[in-house]
Amino acid sequence: MIKIDSNKLPRHIAIIMDGNGRWAQKHTIGRIRGHRKGAQAVRTVVRACREIGVKYLTLFAFSIENWERPEKEVQALMLLLEEYLIKEIDELQEQGIRLTTIGDIDRLHPQVREKLLQVKESTLKNDKMILNLALSYGGKDEIIRAVKKIIEENKNGKIDINEINKETFSNYLYTCGIPDPDLLIRTSGEYRISNFMLWQTAYTELYFTEVLWPDFTRDDLFKAIASYQKRERRFGLTSEQLKEKSFPN
Ligand code: IPE
Ligand code: IPE
Ligand code: MG
Repeated sequence: MIKIDSNKLPRHIAIIMDGNGRWAQKHTIGRIRGHRKGAQAVRTVVRACREIGVKYLTLFAFSIENWERPEKEVQALMLLLEEYLIKEIDELQEQGIRLTTIGDIDRLHPQVREKLLQVKESTLKNDKMILNLALSYGGKDEIIRAVKKIIEENKNGKIDINEINKETFSNYLYTCGIPDPDLLIRTSGEYRISNFMLWQTAYTELYFTEVLWPDFTRDDLFKAIASYQKRERRFGLTSEQLKEKSFPN
């Protein structure tokens, strides 16, 4: 059993769920079955986070770059997402979980987008946890989109150039209203960010594991949280200064 301190939980955990393809290869089955198995790991992690009291969980489910994958794989991922939403809606409601998304969801297949909007709408009032899915998401694209919006609003006289700072800029990102991740987990032994939450992870604690996403368990999640809890988040300050000041977590 891995011990975690419930008084020092990351408020927001983000996960780059990687390794479905390699998991499938290891089991000599098709990539799509790897994704299917990956969806089960999603269930496990959502449940565990809700149970221990994590407030925000962001899952990188599909990147802007992933659109370039073979058509059949993209199709299968869309279907899996739809299936996930249909299957999970009851549990999300029971558990008081609100579903939100970040990314260009207008690019999703209409049927999936429809379902997504439906689930987002019907879980709008749930306040126990936010499950935030990154879909058709790219960090650089998100920043460019924000810049364009700001220019537009500046033209219309809605925002003055002097009002642009880190806080106001954040409001133009998909993640508006969501605190930055405290902990970012990436599975499958890849040590990169792959265009995920570039702005938001400026001071996030990073945790990398060799475990392939379909094999990721509750215990793996708790291991990552335990590692996070051992760290000192200095935000550029010295340890001495931190002792005088108190930061969230
Ligand atoms: C992550 O698994 C799921 C998505 C990117 C949609 P991959 O499909 O990237 O798995 P690997 O990296 O090929 O093993
Ligand atoms: C990142 O995984 C995207 C998701 C987990 C959805 P990728 O498998 O697409 O990343 P790269 O290509 O290895 O960097
Ligand atoms: Mg991958």
